[in-house]
Amino acid sequence: MSVRNIHPVSLSIIHDEHEHLSAVIQGMLYFVRLIENGGNAPDLKVFRAMLYYIAEYPERVHHPKEDQYLFAKIKERTHQLDSELDALIDQHSRGEILVHRLQDALLNYEFGGAPAFPHFRDLVEQYAHFYYAHMRTEEDRIMPVAKQILNDADWKEIDAAFMENRKIMNDAGERYKYDQLFSLIVNIAPAPIGVGDPV
Ligand SMILES: [Fe+2]
Ligand SMILES: [Fe+2]
Repeated sequence: MSVRNIHPVSLSIIHDEHEHLSAVIQGMLYFVRLIENGGNAPDLKVFRAMLYYIAEYPERVHHPKEDQYLFAKIKERTHQLDSELDALIDQHSRGEILVHRLQDALLNYEFGGAPAFPHFRDLVEQYAHFYYAHMRTEEDRIMPVAKQILNDADWKEIDAAFMENRKIMNDAGERYKYDQLFSLIVNIAPAPIGVGDPV
C-alpha cells in the first residue's frame, strides 16, 4: 500500500485533546504520589476539578467524535481493525465507569481521611495506566492505518466534525466551559503542574 503523506486536521485535534487529557492525568498522578511520599495534599478542589475534566471532556466531546466519525469511517473502508476498534469503543464506556469510581473514592478520601487514601491512589494509577494505553493505541495503531485507507472525502467529513470541537463557544457555552476548566486546573494546581501557590 502506498504511503500517503497527509496531515488531517482531525488527527491534530485528537492529538491536542490527548495532550490536555494527559496533562490532567499526569497532574493527578503527581499529587497522589506526593501524598504517598508524605507530602502535603493539595486542596482537594484540585482533584475535583481534574476529575470533572476527565469525566466530562472525553465523554461529551472527544469519544463521541472518535466513535461516530473516525472509527465508523475506518470500519466502512476496512475490517482489518475491527477488533481493535471494538475494544477502543468498549474502553470509552469502561473509562466512564472508572472515572465514576474515582469520584466515589475521592469523596471517601475527603470525608474518610487517610485510611481511604490507598484506594483512591490505586484507582488513579489504574486509570492512568488504562487511559495512556488507550491513547497510545489510537495514535500508534489506528491513526497510521486511517491515513492509508481513508480518502479525501472521508477526511473532509471527519475534519468537519472535529473542527466543531475547536469552536470558541456554542449556545450552551460548552467549549468555553472546558477551556475555562482546564485554565482553572492550571491556576489552582501548584507547581510543577500549574501556577498555583505551593502546597
Ligand atoms: Fe478514544
Ligand atoms: Fe482519543
